[in-house]
Amino acid sequence: MKNTALEKIQPYDKATSEFCSAVLSGLRRTPRAIPPKYFYDETGSHLFDAICNSPEYYPTRTELQILGSIAPEIAEITGPGAVIIEPGCGSAEKVRILLDRLSPSAYVGMDISGKYLKGVINKLSKAYPTLTVKGLCSDFIRPVNILDIPLGDRLIFFPGSTIGNFEPTDAVNFLKQMARLARSGGRLLIGVDLKKDPAVLNAAYNDSEGFTAAFNMNLLARMNNELDANFRISQFKHSAFYNEQSGRVEMHLVSQSEQVVQIDNTHFGFSRNDTIHTENSYKYSIKEFQTLARLGDFEPDKVWTDPDDLFSLHLLNVA
Ligand code: AVJ
Repeated sequence: MKNTALEKIQPYDKATSEFCSAVLSGLRRTPRAIPPKYFYDETGSHLFDAICNSPEYYPTRTELQILGSIAPEIAEITGPGAVIIEPGCGSAEKVRILLDRLSPSAYVGMDISGKYLKGVINKLSKAYPTLTVKGLCSDFIRPVNILDIPLGDRLIFFPGSTIGNFEPTDAVNFLKQMARLARSGGRLLIGVDLKKDPAVLNAAYNDSEGFTAAFNMNLLARMNNELDANFRISQFKHSAFYNEQSGRVEMHLVSQSEQVVQIDNTHFGFSRNDTIHTENSYKYSIKEFQTLARLGDFEPDKVWTDPDDLFSLHLLNVA
């Protein structure tokens, strides 16, 4: 992109040009914002795994606890032979609890990071040699080719409270797409982070080892590496806080000085304390989420939480 002649010979791949236009349009908007899906290059995916293992980030271990205790109940509800589909599967660690208990016929993992996905799918098919295991490199909000999914009753698994990344209206649209993917008779098992003491939320997004900060800042490195941007990484800081009014944790990259950044021949001026909004993580009470689910073409069936009411898992039926 820097060199037009070169570009003709060696065009950026589709993913990079999509990243580029998302960044450019995101930085031209006020307030400046870049969608959180761009965190997940290979480095970002590994940093996210580190966040999940940090003591402050309660969602992962809490959801795993709940999953372990409810898996027999879910197995009873679904019966054997289900096709488990996991959009945005990441490391696909959590789904092992279901694979161990449900006797499914197939697993389809979908992820945006193709290189990372390949390793994950290889590992999984070795661990479950009798299971049909498929990987689809796909943005989970793009419609899926029906031919890519084996036959059987569908159980979509969407853990981790990833649904919290969407604006509520977009979450409804996403749920509608999931209802279509699950088809009539299908189900969605979805993890949703609960509203709670802001101090617990603020700690979870500001872990003391700095994994969340590195995860957020990696977006700057990614723009420098892939888009030839010239962010001075030391001139930005990680910021994350619970916005009680909106019921969401916000992550930002905050400019530490007055500076100009160049990306793809466009200049972006930053004043001190100007921010790039990089993520929203909405938190929902059980009632709030059930309302959202109904708007999204599902009927709530069951919901489980941990004893401390930190996290919830909803089983929804296609309406
Ligand atoms: C993967 C979107 C659920 O919002 O908690 C973790 C991502 N961001 N720490 C979340 C994340 C910062 C995570 N989700």
